[in-house]
Amino acid sequence: MTKALRFLLLTLLFIYAAATGSADTQLKVTDNPADKLVAVINENRTAHKLPTLYDNPGLACIALQYIKAYEGDCGAVGGSKGKKPPESEFAETFAPNCGIEASALAPITGRFLGCQSKYVHAPEAFSEILVRNQKSLDILYGKNDTQVGAALMGTDGGSPYFWCVLFSSGKPNSNTSFAFEGGVAKTTRPGCYSGANDECSGAHDWSQLNGIWLFATTLLISLEFAFSS
Ligand SMILES: *[C@@H]1O[C@H](CO)[C@@H](O)[C@H](O)[C@H]1NC(C)=O
Ligand SMILES: *[C@@H]1O[C@H](CO)[C@@H](O)[C@H](O)[C@H]1NC(C)=O
Ligand SMILES: *[C@@H]1O[C@H](CO)[C@@H](O)[C@H](O)[C@H]1NC(C)=O
Repeated sequence: MTKALRFLLLTLLFIYAAATGSADTQLKVTDNPADKLVAVINENRTAHKLPTLYDNPGLACIALQYIKAYEGDCGAVGGSKGKKPPESEFAETFAPNCGIEASALAPITGRFLGCQSKYVHAPEAFSEILVRNQKSLDILYGKNDTQVGAALMGTDGGSPYFWCVLFSSGKPNSNTSFAFEGGVAKTTRPGCYSGANDECSGAHDWSQLNGIWLFATTLLISLEFAFSS
C-alpha cells in the first residue's frame, strides 16, 4: 500500500467513525426517541418539585394512533384550522388498534401535539414544538396527572414528523388503565411509542443509513484506488 492510500483510508475510517459515533451515543441514551421525550418531561417536572409520571406503554400506543388519525396532514395540527379526532375514536379505533379493551381507558387530562417538516431530537421537540405557551405549561405541571405516554412518527418514512404526548390521571402501575390484553405491548409500526422497553428509531433511520452508505461508498472508492495504484 502506498503512503497516500494508507492516509486516505485512515481519513475515511475516521470520517466513518465520526459519522456513526454520533448516532451511537444517541442510541445508547434510550434507543427510543419517545422514551427520551418522557425522560425530558419527567426531568422538567422533577426540577419543578413535581412527582415523575409513570410511562404507560398503553397510553403511549394510543398517542401513536392519535397521530395516525391525522394521516400525515400537518396543516390540521394546531392553529385556526386545527382539527381533533372525535372523542369516540379512543374507544372505537385507538384502543382496539393497540389491543386495549375500551373498559381499560382512563381519563385523558391533557395532550401535546406538534408537527413539523424538520426532525428534531426530544429536548428540542419538548421546548420548541410541544411546550410553548401557558396552556402547555399548565398541562405539563398538572397536579392530578399520574401517567404519560409519548409517540412520534414520520410520514412515509420521512417528513413531516408528528409528536404526541398524552397525560392521564388514571391509576398508574395498575394493570387496569390502558392495559394491553394479555399484558403484551402491541407494536403498531410505523412510529415509535414510549414505555414498552423497545428499541425504535422509526423517525430517523436515515441517520444510521447515512453512516452505512458513507462507509460503503468510501470502501468502494478505497478499493478503486487500491486496484488502480
Ligand atoms: C421546564 O420546561 C419549560 C418549558 O420548556 C422551561 O421554560 C423551563 O425552564 C424548564 N425547567 C427546567 C428546570 O429546565
Ligand atoms: C384534580 O382532582 C380533583 C379531585 O379529584 C378535582 O376536583 C380537580 O378538578 C382536578 N383538577 C384538574 C386540573 O383536573
Ligand atoms: C389484573 O390483575 C388481576 C390480579 O393480578 C387479575 O385478576 C386481572 O385479570 C388483571 N386484569 C387484566 C386486565 O390483566
